Amino acid sequence: MLPVFAFRGRLVKSPSSLRLATMVPSWPLPGACWALLTFCCVLPSGTQGQEFLLRVEPQDLVIPAGGSLLVNCSTRCPHAELINLETSLSKERAGNGLGWAAFWLSNVTDDSHVLCSSFCNGSQMISSSVITVYRFPESVELAPLPPWQPVGENFTLHCQVVGGEPRAHLTAVLLRGEEALSRQLVVGNPANVTATVLASRGDHRANFSCRTELDLRPLGLVLFQNTSAPRRLRTFVLPATAPRLEVPQFLEVGTSWRVDCTLEGLFPASEAYVHLALGNQMLKPVVTSHGDTLTATATARADQEGTWKIVCNMTLGGESREAHSLTVFDRNSRSVNFAMGVLVILGVVVVTGALTYVFWTKRSGIYHVKQESTSLPLTSVQSEGVVGEEPSSAARSLGS
Ligand SMILES: *[C@@H]1O[C@H](CO)[C@@H](O)[C@H](O)[C@H]1NC(C)=O
Ligand SMILES: *[C@@H]1O[C@H](CO)[C@@H](O)[C@H](O)[C@H]1NC(C)=O
Ligand SMILES: *[C@@H]1O[C@H](CO)[C@@H](O)[C@H](O)[C@H]1NC(C)=O
Ligand SMILES: *[C@@H]1O[C@H](CO)[C@@H](O)[C@H](O)[C@H]1NC(C)=O
Ligand SMILES: *[C@@H]1O[C@H](CO)[C@@H](O)[C@H](O)[C@H]1NC(C)=O
Repeated sequence: MLPVFAFRGRLVKSPSSLRLATMVPSWPLPGACWALLTFCCVLPSGTQGQEFLLRVEPQDLVIPAGGSLLVNCSTRCPHAELINLETSLSKERAGNGLGWAAFWLSNVTDDSHVLCSSFCNGSQMISSSVITVYRFPESVELAPLPPWQPVGENFTLHCQVVGGEPRAHLTAVLLRGEEALSRQLVVGNPANVTATVLASRGDHRANFSCRTELDLRPLGLVLFQNTSAPRRLRTFVLPATAPRLEVPQFLEVGTSWRVDCTLEGLFPASEAYVHLALGNQMLKPVVTSHGDTLTATATARADQEGTWKIVCNMTLGGESREAHSLTVFDRNSRSVNFAMGVLVILGVVVVTGALTYVFWTKRSGIYHVKQESTSLPLTSVQSEGVVGEEPSSAARSLGS
C-alpha cells in the first residue's frame, strides 16, 4: 500500500526531477501496483506514445488528512487526447489547456495512488503519483500511576496512542521529566506502549509523560510532537519495624506527661501521617522530621483510673506501622511511690543505726561515759543525721 516510501527520498530532495512516466514505469513497485498498471493501462496501449511523456504534478505529495490538492496532468504530445485522472478520490476538473488538464481533489483522508492517462497519436500514456496522508494522533494518554510506589520495586508506564499516520513514521517516547526512558514504534490502533521502571527515591514527585513523534522530516516536512498530560509519581520507603513508643508504665491520674513516638528510615518522612491516641482520646502530636526520622510528641493526660492503651500509628504510602503500650493510671500512684521510698530509706536508717549502736556499744565497754550520748531514739527522718554524727562524736571522746 505504501510504495511511496520506496522512492520518496530522491523525489523530495530534487523536486525538479519530476518523475516522468511512460507506459512502462521504470521504478520498482510492489507486485500489487505492477498488477494494477499492467491490467488497466499497459497492455492495451501501443508503442507510439512512448516518445512523449505524461507528467503528473505534484509528485508523491504528503498532505494532512482531509486536505485537498490540485493535480495537473500534462504532456508535450502535440495531439494529446482524453487527458484524464484516475482516482478513487472525489475529483473536480479544475481547468485544461493544450496538453494539460488539472483536477481538484478534496477531502483526502487516506493514502492514495492517482494515475494520469492520455492518448498520444493513438497510444496510451500513463503516469502515477502517490498521495500520502498524515494525521496527528487523536489522543496520547499515559495511564494513571500507582498513588504510592515503593522504592526498589518495578512499576509500568502504559501509554495509549489512538490514531496517527503514517505509522511507519510514528514513534512513542516514554519520559521522566525530559528524559526519554523508552522509544518504540507505535503498532496497532489503539496502540499500547509500555515501559517498566524501577522506582527510586529520585522518582518521588517526578512527572512522567508519553510523547508521540510523527517524524515527517524524511518526507520533506517537519517533526510533529504530541505529549500526554503528565502524571506525577510518589515513591516511598516504610520500614517493616514498628515505631518506638516511649510512655511510662505507671502514671497518676490528672497529671500531664509526654508521649514520644519515633520511627527511623522513612522516606519521605515529612509526608507521613501520625495518629496518636490515648484510649479513645485523639492526641494532637507535634510531628517533626529530620532526614529519614519522624518524631511525634504529644502531651497527654488521663482523668480516669484504669489501664489505658496508647497507640502510635504512622502511615505512609497507604501503609501503616503501629506501636502500642498499656499504662496503668492510678489516683495516687505518686504518693504511694513516695511513701514507699520513705519507708525504704527509714528501713535502711534503722538497720544501719541498730548495727552501729551494737558495734559501738561493744567496743566502748571501757568508755561508759559516752554510752548515753549514742542512745538516741531513731524514730524520725532526722535520725539519719544522728547516725552520721555518732562515730565522729565517739572518735572525739576517744581522742579526749
Ligand atoms: C498545468 O501544467 C501545464 C504545463 O506545465 C501548465 O501550462 C498549466 O498552467 C498547468 N495548469 C495549472 C492549473 O496549474
Ligand atoms: C471527508 O470524507 C470523510 C470520509 O471519507 C467524510 O466522513 C467527511 O464528511 C468528508 N468531509 C467533507 C468536508 O467532505
Ligand atoms: C502518428 O502515427 C502515425 C502512424 O500511425 C505516424 O505516421 C506519425 O508520424 C505519428 N505522429 C507522431 C507525432 O508520432
Ligand atoms: C511536574 O508537573 C507539574 C505541573 O504539571 C509542575 O508544577 C511540577 O513542577 C513538575 N515537577 C517536576 C519535578 O518537573
Ligand atoms: C498534536 O500536535 C499538533 C502539532 O504538533 C497539534 O496541532 C495537535 O493539535 C496535537 N493534537 C492533540 C490531540 O493534541
